[in-house]
Amino acid sequence: MSHSKTQTTSDAASLLALSSEIETPAFVYDEAGIDRLLDSVEPIRRSTGCRMLFSLKAFSFVDALDVMAPRLDGFAASSLFEARLAREVPVGGMEVHLTTPGLRPDEVDDLASLCDYVSFNSIGQLREYGRRMTPYANIGLRVNPQVSFVEDVRYDPCRPHSKLGVPLNHLTEAVAADSALLAGVEGIHVHSNCDSTDLSQALATVRRIDEILGPVLSGLDWINLGGGYLFDEADSLEPMIEAVQALESRRGLRVYAEPGASLIRGAGFIVSSVLDVLPDEGVRTAVLDTTVNHMPEALEYGWEPDVADHADEGAFEYILAGSTCLAGDLFGVYRFDEPLETGSRVVFDHAGAYTLSKAHAFNGVGLPSVYALDRSGALTLKKRFTYGEYAERWGAGIGVPG
Ligand SMILES: Cc1ncc(COP(=O)(O)O)c(C=O)c1O
Repeated sequence: MSHSKTQTTSDAASLLALSSEIETPAFVYDEAGIDRLLDSVEPIRRSTGCRMLFSLKAFSFVDALDVMAPRLDGFAASSLFEARLAREVPVGGMEVHLTTPGLRPDEVDDLASLCDYVSFNSIGQLREYGRRMTPYANIGLRVNPQVSFVEDVRYDPCRPHSKLGVPLNHLTEAVAADSALLAGVEGIHVHSNCDSTDLSQALATVRRIDEILGPVLSGLDWINLGGGYLFDEADSLEPMIEAVQALESRRGLRVYAEPGASLIRGAGFIVSSVLDVLPDEGVRTAVLDTTVNHMPEALEYGWEPDVADHADEGAFEYILAGSTCLAGDLFGVYRFDEPLETGSRVVFDHAGAYTLSKAHAFNGVGLPSVYALDRSGALTLKKRFTYGEYAERWGAGIGVPG
């Protein structure tokens, strides 16, 4: 499991220089990095009417959302809490869109008042709640286009027996059986990919939907193409532009996209300190004050995160380990030009997406403090996770000191 990944970015290098100012473990979001990621979707917005939402599941720190909001059309939420959080962002005019397989009957009315757009995940949900929500929110239906591009089925929204959206063939059968099924439905939602840099897959998905749903699409107002594409790393944006333009001109649809990772992964870092270096006959282990629980996808999906300053040919090799009791709380094997010692800083690069939003405090290891690296290069501590928050979660009650 030796590591050879993306080279250290200039942002990460400057963060390493500043890292002594940071209390660790920390999550740092870089406002200039966010600007650059938002720049990467500008050509799509300029060439089409495509509206950009940011998917909160990837990251939802409100001050950072505030930085992003002026260049977005809204937020995509997956739950009542995310929808409420979207409404905490003080920038006006932001739309809130929601789709979830976990719609709860007791939340339907609150969601209807918070969300501008709700895409039901199933025909059953549409029938159950559609009429109740229609007066408040714009109603859509999530469809599963049944085209798989993702090798790992754990990431594939179109996997066999997927719980995510109405399979296209079911939808056409249901509409044939009940011509009033889509009465009140104004749009469809399609999210079918993960971390793809090949936007021809978005075009292929749109072509398939257009081919199967045909005139149904022309009767709708909008389509949401979901997330799952890394626009900043895409080979070419042209297929996406072509897909959006086709939906606009051929079907008269207003088109949305709701990327998550693409707009934040490259603008977030986890900064940690070495707590201990354990000797070993083979490779030494550096125990960090962070843990895979601050980036659970590294463990869930078995990938090794990028580490700034790692050097493929470096003379000093370490297993980077997290600080919990789980034997497998390991990031991987990394080499460096300089030795690591107690107190050395280790910065994980490209760590903006699905880290803080999935982080947990197993073993009582606190969540990372959150810092903003602003456009002038200054660092500000935004949030420190306290013992009080931890204790409250475990029922210790209000009034426990921070
Ligand atoms: C419905 C929906 N929209 C958007 C996203 C964001 O995807 P990504 O972060 O891969 O762009 C996801 C991710 O799971 C999703 O399920």
